Amino acid sequence: MKQDNIQIQINDAVAGNRAYVHNDPYHLEYHLMPPVGLANDPNGLIYFKGTYHIFFQWNPFGTTHGYKAWGHYTSTNLIDWRLEPAALKPEAWYDKNGCYSGSAIEHDGVLYLFYTGNVKDAQDQRSTYQCLAVSEDGIDFDKKGPVLHLPEGYTPHFRDPKVWKSGNEWLMILGAQNTSLKGEAVLARSENLTDWEFIGPVAGNDMNGLRDFGYMWECPDLFPLSDKDVLIVCPQGLEAAGDDYHNLFQAGYFIGEFDSSNHTFQHGSFAELDKGFDFYAPQTFTDGSGRRILLGWMGMTDDQEQNHPTIRNNWIHALTIPRALEIRNGVLVQQPVTELKKLRGHKKHYSKLELEKDVAFREVIAPMSEMLLTFTRPVEEAFEMDIRNTLNISYVANRLTVERRTFEGTDTEQRTFSLDLLSELQIFVDRSSVEIFVNGGETVVTSRYFPTDDDAVNIRGHMHFDLSVWEIESGRVDI
Ligand code: FRU
Repeated sequence: MKQDNIQIQINDAVAGNRAYVHNDPYHLEYHLMPPVGLANDPNGLIYFKGTYHIFFQWNPFGTTHGYKAWGHYTSTNLIDWRLEPAALKPEAWYDKNGCYSGSAIEHDGVLYLFYTGNVKDAQDQRSTYQCLAVSEDGIDFDKKGPVLHLPEGYTPHFRDPKVWKSGNEWLMILGAQNTSLKGEAVLARSENLTDWEFIGPVAGNDMNGLRDFGYMWECPDLFPLSDKDVLIVCPQGLEAAGDDYHNLFQAGYFIGEFDSSNHTFQHGSFAELDKGFDFYAPQTFTDGSGRRILLGWMGMTDDQEQNHPTIRNNWIHALTIPRALEIRNGVLVQQPVTELKKLRGHKKHYSKLELEKDVAFREVIAPMSEMLLTFTRPVEEAFEMDIRNTLNISYVANRLTVERRTFEGTDTEQRTFSLDLLSELQIFVDRSSVEIFVNGGETVVTSRYFPTDDDAVNIRGHMHFDLSVWEIESGRVDI
């Protein structure tokens, strides 16, 4: 690996923070987190020459957004991870203010990374370039510079290229803001991966019946799934409506049909991918196993960031666990990849539990645990599950609600949605995160939480259920 000056500074920042991170009670054990600094979007997800590569937006020099390099983890099994040198650093004229999000593709044994070079001038005016970097070993990358310039009709909020092979051409989908200040996903095409031609919008405001649907669309991803096509995208600027859109920015999907000959996408309505507090900028990839795997950023750019308790240990945010996607009854379903079962350690199992009203079932859990709760009869009246006195899941009158203590610790906040029947909860708990897969992943609720005292789960309600609790092994992410 080339050890340039910036990489030496990054190595020093990582080494200097090791003791802080490892002594932090909120250090995540099986999620990918930055060893120092701020992580946001997962980038460049790919299975290349037998190795999984997960890159991520990374500021190794502070817990704020600003400096953006591509951090890099590798794995051969999706559970043991190794930190690699940063793959891209903002050093060139076309990316000097940030190597923003992008994607990876393999061609003829070469790994191609496409990303957005972000540039600000002395007056703070932004320019953006879609850039290419290549590598034969997946570790050292050579930057090739811009391959697509800003087309007419768009503001410099034009970014996050995701590239895939479509017939005899490669397509790139990007998040964009048009000059009417409305969000769109746009396409470009190439026959050789280096020369790119802009096509135009494929989805967005004022297309397919969408109105007032955000001032900018970030991180689009368009892919086939079953006999459909799915567009995942992150619109910014949606107003909260009923149970929807309560985070500052949204991450969701459209299911439809992409016509690759004329580059059009007919789709249905938008649905949120996650009903929790901390989920944004997901990306997907395939690994030859037939699965479509998604990871998201377990975070959000908002006012809460300044209250994250991990800032005192010089790190903030993380990525979700990998989730396999499928379409079930017209809904995009997410399930933890089966590899995660290898992390299951000591198990406790309770079958045919029956709770009476007002009698709590208490179970002490490890800070890293997986729980599988199967309701053997429909829940009568109310069900409630409290995790470490910090995050509470309840099901009352066909509504599932997740309430957590705010990061300042003084108040609580909620996310809620209607659910006709509650049959199963699979819950992944790490030292400071909870991912809840409801009814086999038909709805997912992802949230950070910062427990301070209690180490138990308390379950209340009038209900019949089976419960398995596994301790999850730690120390599989080497940072
Ligand atoms: C999404 C995002 C992307 C951008 C990146 C910069 O969180 O704003 O649109 O490329 O983060 O870090």
